[in-house]
Amino acid sequence: MGDDAQAADDAQAVRYDLHQHVAVITIDRPGARNALSTEVLRGLSEGLDRAESDPDVRAVVLTGGPKIFASGADIRELRRTTPADYLQSERLAAWVRFARFTKPSVAAVAGYVLGGGCELAMSCDLIVAADTAVLGQPEIRLGILPGAGGTQRWARVCGRFRAAELVLAGQSVDAWTARDYGMVSQVVPAERIVPAGVALATTVAAFSPIATRLSKAAIRSSEEMPVSAGLQHERALLGTLLSTDDHLEGIDAFLEKRAAHFTGR
Ligand code: CAA
Repeated sequence: MGDDAQAADDAQAVRYDLHQHVAVITIDRPGARNALSTEVLRGLSEGLDRAESDPDVRAVVLTGGPKIFASGADIRELRRTTPADYLQSERLAAWVRFARFTKPSVAAVAGYVLGGGCELAMSCDLIVAADTAVLGQPEIRLGILPGAGGTQRWARVCGRFRAAELVLAGQSVDAWTARDYGMVSQVVPAERIVPAGVALATTVAAFSPIATRLSKAAIRSSEEMPVSAGLQHERALLGTLLSTDDHLEGIDAFLEKRAAHFTGR
């Protein structure tokens, strides 16, 4: 396939669907094993922008469907990327955008979850994995290293020695090992992976959207801040939530023994 035809094909490679309050963003580029080309990263960014700006969307699922999540950065693109290209690239901007996404996100992964694909999963708040999932950072085999958070996030997930098994020795782990590491919430049969991701996201989406967003911010700050600053941040966020209608609704619903109806105010 020529470059133009490939770009046109890739432009269709990310789908966006709504399941009530959950947006499902699906990578669909099976011919290249869902490799994250610039077009795919653009599609993911646009999907996240759309979800971010839609007040009805309260959580997002990122998936590649029941067969494969993503095989990592597009190796053919990498082959022709110079350092100057890389530093100014749309790809780099897309990764910054993923890190800034403020709504809760669930990665629902199956099959190969490699390189940038694994880093994409780790950029989410929760991960559900199919029994077929193989997670790893094979970049060392290509003479490079993970450039979208792999070294930092794996070390925080499972400690630097296990991270070295993945990043330095290029070994991968299965879904159950990733669950034992505390990274994967649940392992499900591959054909159930998208419904399982949507179910978990729907659980989150039923809560106050302000409370889930600020809870996410508080958890994420634990990666950035010392504990004392993180505790202060957490207290400030709780102070904000005490000014919302949703907190009154949550407490009234508990006292009146009924389901809460959160409006995000
Ligand atoms: N980029 C571009 N093309 C890819 C690709 C990738 N990451 N992964 C697979 N493809 C392409 C192959 O080149 C092949 O294309 P052709 O049919 O045109 O030859 C097609 O997809 C099918 O690939 P395979 O025949 O290899 O499929 P498989 O099912 O036997 O194996 C796989 C699947 C294990 C994922 C294997 O393709 C593979 O090892 N891919 C590379 C994985 C990798 O190294 N990822 C790290 C990328 S670097 C990175 O991600 C950097 C970063 O952190 C930002």
